[in-house]
Amino acid sequence: MNNWQKMAKMSLIMVLSVAVVAAVRSTTLIAEQSRGEAEFIEYCTECHFNGGNIIKSTKTLSEKDRVTNGIKNAGDIIRIIRNPGEGMTRFDDKTLPDNDARRIAEFIIKTFK
Ligand code: HEC
Repeated sequence: MNNWQKMAKMSLIMVLSVAVVAAVRSTTLIAEQSRGEAEFIEYCTECHFNGGNIIKSTKTLSEKDRVTNGIKNAGDIIRIIRNPGEGMTRFDDKTLPDNDARRIAEFIIKTFK
């Protein structure tokens, strides 16, 4: 194999590795998102069906209510999960470890507009 052929082979290997890494990443992302949804259904839908709020109608998970109530990002949602207002179940990090809480928070931000 001459030098040009070696370089062509190297480039091909590099392009293929980048493609494989990208494919694995997007599959992982989809898996994370559907886990977030499953956990939301398990822990939150009894009160927040479809992103609503069956107990306090001014505190739904819609973007409009979140903005009004000062909830800007996933960190703010995790704080509420750990230390909620009146009427909401408190979830400590034994029930819902940080990773799970974050997946749920990201699912809420992505889903309820
Ligand atoms: C037992 C019913 C109940 C469950 C279960 C529950 N919530 Fe709530 N949630 C509430 C109530 C009631 C409020 C309003 C509390 C207040 O007055 O601050 C609320 C408020 C919130 C808010 C603030 C919304 C806003 O617009 O101000 C977020 C975010 C939230 N809940 C997320 C969650 C998540 C995530 C889960 C699941 C891990 C969950 N909740 C489970 C009842 C519940």
